[in-house]
Amino acid sequence: RRYDVLVVGSANADLTVRVGRRPGPGETVPGSDLVESPGGKGANQAAAAARLGARTTLLARVGDDAYGELLLEAQRAAGTDVGHVRVEAGARTGTAMIVVGPDGDNAIVVSPGANARLSPEDVAAADALIADSAVLSLQGEVPWETTAAAARAARRAGTRVVLNPSPVPPHDLPHDLLTAADPLVVNEHEARLLSGVADGSPADRAHALRRRGARSVVVTLGADGALTLDDEGATTVPGVPAEAVDTTGAGDAFTGALAWRLAQGDRLGEAARLAVRVAAVSVTRPGAQTSYPAAEELG
Ligand code: RIB
Ligand code: NA
Repeated sequence: RRYDVLVVGSANADLTVRVGRRPGPGETVPGSDLVESPGGKGANQAAAAARLGARTTLLARVGDDAYGELLLEAQRAAGTDVGHVRVEAGARTGTAMIVVGPDGDNAIVVSPGANARLSPEDVAAADALIADSAVLSLQGEVPWETTAAAARAARRAGTRVVLNPSPVPPHDLPHDLLTAADPLVVNEHEARLLSGVADGSPADRAHALRRRGARSVVVTLGADGALTLDDEGATTVPGVPAEAVDTTGAGDAFTGALAWRLAQGDRLGEAARLAVRVAAVSVTRPGAQTSYPAAEELG
């Protein structure tokens, strides 16, 4: 196949301000200088995979504005084939308003812009591209019909689907999307919401998600690593110590790295071990894509 990783998803300009303390309702607090950097869960996954050396391409839409340029430039620099990123005349590039707190934790509001126009028709036109990719990586920042159409096309083509359903939709995940996920990649919060298991361990939730139809599951545990579950059973991947300055996009780094290793034929637990290391590096530096390591840096 021509590509290791195809990402169908979002691209956002991240507008980030650091604060000493989060404002409450009706409150104003001073922040740092504004930083504009390339982000968006789809573009982040692609940049993470490409930086590691995966043959990567991205199906996405940006606006014909400066942020669209910023995103295209960042993908080119990472090594992604940007031939399938469409620049939409008259649309704004997606933007994410990000507030980073003193511990590197973040709160994000996303304005979809051109991402909202990525359609099932775009996916239909990319059938050959999907069949030409070993792994299709998906998230939740473009319309769910589009993501589900991509997953269906991948199933037909025998392309492996990695799905990070983030942000979690207000409705159930489309069933054919859930049953295509191999793995479904969720953090603890997403695992709780999607599994319906209110009290229980990450492993309980992973089992519940498989019962609901996911072919395999990865629960990311932040600094504590990850847990994987597939036909071969559960694997616990310990965390890698890291001095966190900005966790924005760490989950996307994890997922992009995982997709790359799965395309290389790694078992799920093995792929997650590498992905935990990539995510750990990413939290030690500011921004999302700007913080992703190249393979050489992993030592
Ligand atoms: O997952 C992190 C990403 O979420 C940011 O880059 C931001 O663009 C939002 O989409
Ligand atoms: Na980072």
